[in-house]
Amino acid sequence: MLAVAVLAAGKGTRMKSDRPKVLQSLAGATLVERVLASCRHLDPQRQLLIVGHQAERVRSSLAYLEGLEFALQQPQNGTGHAVQQLLGPLEGFEGELLVLNGDVPLLRPATLAALLERHRASGAAVSLLTARLADPSGYGRVFTDELGQVEAIVEHRDCSEEQRRNDLTNAGIYCFNWRALAEVLPQLSTDNDQGELYLTDTVAMLSPAVHVEVADAAEIAGINDRMQLAQCEIALQERLRSHWMAEGVSFVDPASCTLSEGTRFGRDVLVEPQCHFRGRTSIGSGCRIGPGCLIEDSQLEDDVDVLYSVLREVSVAGGCVVGPFAQLRAGARLESGCRIGNFVEVKNSHLAAGCKANHLSYLGDADLGAGVNVGAGTITANYDGVRKHRTVVGAGSKTGANSVLVAPIVLGAGVTVGAGSTLTRDVPAGALALGRAPQLIKTDWSPPRG
Ligand code: UD1
Ligand code: CA
Repeated sequence: MLAVAVLAAGKGTRMKSDRPKVLQSLAGATLVERVLASCRHLDPQRQLLIVGHQAERVRSSLAYLEGLEFALQQPQNGTGHAVQQLLGPLEGFEGELLVLNGDVPLLRPATLAALLERHRASGAAVSLLTARLADPSGYGRVFTDELGQVEAIVEHRDCSEEQRRNDLTNAGIYCFNWRALAEVLPQLSTDNDQGELYLTDTVAMLSPAVHVEVADAAEIAGINDRMQLAQCEIALQERLRSHWMAEGVSFVDPASCTLSEGTRFGRDVLVEPQCHFRGRTSIGSGCRIGPGCLIEDSQLEDDVDVLYSVLREVSVAGGCVVGPFAQLRAGARLESGCRIGNFVEVKNSHLAAGCKANHLSYLGDADLGAGVNVGAGTITANYDGVRKHRTVVGAGSKTGANSVLVAPIVLGAGVTVGAGSTLTRDVPAGALALGRAPQLIKTDWSPPRG
């Protein structure tokens, strides 16, 4: 039987934030979401989150997760005190308890699986993850005997100068035999620099205590301040980009681009500099993105070209060309082969195959049939000040430059709209619609003299 407990009650004083530390984000997911995700594949029977500082906020941010139990730590008197809160909920539990610090978000699932496996094979009372860090300052140091078994963990601030030279660092990730831990938890004392109950002190009370050194020290980075948050973001972004490069995506300037965990790419995608992919976004094979794009919660099919544009909550079918300088907003759906050019905004609109809106337009709440040509400066006036209305334009229609389609309005198929028209009434298929003052010419006219 396996139970997992994540420590997430601390305030995160060093962040200088109104938000609890575990709710800070990395690549679009909170630290605590990442930690919980890193152990999900172990299929634990119980998952417990220890909350305290702004407990309600942390709890509600995770309310969507099924099977997560919450234990309240009030006040927050250290990591040992946090785990003491499990004595009730885990009473009678038999098996291992995997304890994870809520601020160690870069752990690989395979690393936790290896820790659990080693723990089970060794029959230890506790097994913990360690790494040798180039700069271990701030972390607890792990001291071992000549057989390599762990004797004690001493926090940085409680270490002597001599002890600080030890670079074997505590990751804050432990696998305990729960019964053995439950026996020693009540014996913790506050005899340390912070006057708190330290979970790390249980290690000296348990035997055998073993450690598993991780190969990639970056995995155990803990986040206490904004600098460490930024460093972890860089490390995570590098990991995500490397993964997609291995899957056949080209980045011209990788370090200038950011991805979310939920970004997916097909093969032979070319990502030019300064592109950012957020939320759940998928980019089909052969797409060419950038430079300078932000694409969020959007689906692009194959061979789409996007240049200097912002796309959010949209779907774009194969072969479309978007930009430069276009904005596709929530609910824009482009069928294949559409072209959206500079300074065109599309929102909550469906464009059938082959539509073109190449310059200076707003298409909001509109349905365009196949092959509609939207003239430069065409605007759908979709808002009457109270409600939004739809504009329907039939297949093959053409709107002249600077035309305003005042919704609700329906233009049939094959309609031509004269330039500069403001249309307020429906137009039947095949008609020419003009809604502008006729041009007036006065010959031989000279301006009045003053
Ligand atoms: C802790 C370890 C240290 C290790 C480091 C790894 C202890 C005493 N020290 O130090 O050996 O090298 O992590 O990153 O455990 N928390 C609570 N309740 C509390 C206090 C903290 O739930 O009362 C939670 C925090 O929200 C956080 C985690 O425990 O997620 C770690 O707390 P933090 O104060 O950051 O510990 P460190 O000083 O980093
Ligand atoms: Ca920490």
